[in-house]
Amino acid sequence: MKAVLLTGHGGPEMLRLGDAPDPVAAPGEVVVDIHAASVNAADYKVRLGNGRYRLARFPHILGRDFSGVVSALGPGVSDLALGDAVFGVTEQGVEGAYAEKIAVKAAIVARKPAGLGHVEAAALALTGLTALRAIEDTARLRAGETILIQGGAGGVAGFAIQLAKHLGARVITTASQGNHAYVRALGADRAIDYQAEDFAKTVRDCDVVFDTVGGEVQLRSYAVLKTGGRLVWIAPAPEGARPPRADVETLRPNVARDRAHLERILALLREGVVRPPAVTRFTLAQAAEAHRLSEGRHVRGKLVFAVR
Ligand SMILES: NC(=O)c1ccc[n+]([C@@H]2O[C@H](COP(=O)([O-])OP(=O)(O)OC[C@H]3O[C@@H](n4cnc5c(N)ncnc54)[C@H](OP(=O)(O)O)[C@@H]3O)[C@@H](O)[C@H]2O)c1
Repeated sequence: MKAVLLTGHGGPEMLRLGDAPDPVAAPGEVVVDIHAASVNAADYKVRLGNGRYRLARFPHILGRDFSGVVSALGPGVSDLALGDAVFGVTEQGVEGAYAEKIAVKAAIVARKPAGLGHVEAAALALTGLTALRAIEDTARLRAGETILIQGGAGGVAGFAIQLAKHLGARVITTASQGNHAYVRALGADRAIDYQAEDFAKTVRDCDVVFDTVGGEVQLRSYAVLKTGGRLVWIAPAPEGARPPRADVETLRPNVARDRAHLERILALLREGVVRPPAVTRFTLAQAAEAHRLSEGRHVRGKLVFAVR
């Protein structure tokens, strides 16, 4: 099969389309013929290889979420059939979705409804799963609470805005001016242009901060929380930094994979609570270009490979 091979740590030029062995379905696994796979910020971090993202072996196939069609069943798989359209996210610590095929545990993929395209399903899988784990399972956001979502135009935050609004929260988000119409359409009550306004000075009494930006933005976000508030983060604070307040909780979601959360994404779609993010499409051969954009950290919505 064809796959995007990461040939070493470094710039986007370390990615090239090449041949890789076809995956085989082990017990409990299915092989999925991938129709679409999405680009996540984690991918360029793995490519660069800093800190915990350092790989021991190359070539390596990046990519975590995908949508496609089941083309082989491993021993013991009885709840999926050949030809089923499915989508999902690889297990934590496992990658390989920038490819024409992937072997994955059947228990962590879900059937994709016919009305949802492969590109949209791939765009929703890890973003939706992460937002659900962060907002529902970790922050336990409640009706009437106020949440500040940092980086509202990104993939995870876009899902989180819609979900938080649905849960009955007041939603404040940060985005550059050009993305304000986009985040408002997702449901944000207030959009802050972080280049023109210092949120740490103008926002206060939040119950929850959901930080998808990280770095200094995370440290400065503590200022907006009320006593007893929760800061939930998925992008890290600066190395060695400690939470500056003891009267609030600092929480990191465990973004574990399972079918139930993928089905929750589908239920929210069916109910019209969420819609797929803005998507920019690429082919696998354009992986380096997609990575340049992703690493720039100003993507609106998602970058997705249309694989076949
Ligand atoms: N399992 C996990 O823990 C997990 C899962 C998924 C993602 N993540 C992490 O979560 C982070 C977000 O990922 P993502 O894919 O959703 O989005 P992303 O591509 O990393 O973020 C892009 C967005 O961030 C916004 N942005 C950049 N700088 C900003 C700033 N200073 N203030 C406010 N917004 C800013 C940009 O909007 P503007 O152009 O408007 O600035 C852009 O839309 C990444 O670090 C990723 O690695 C973690």
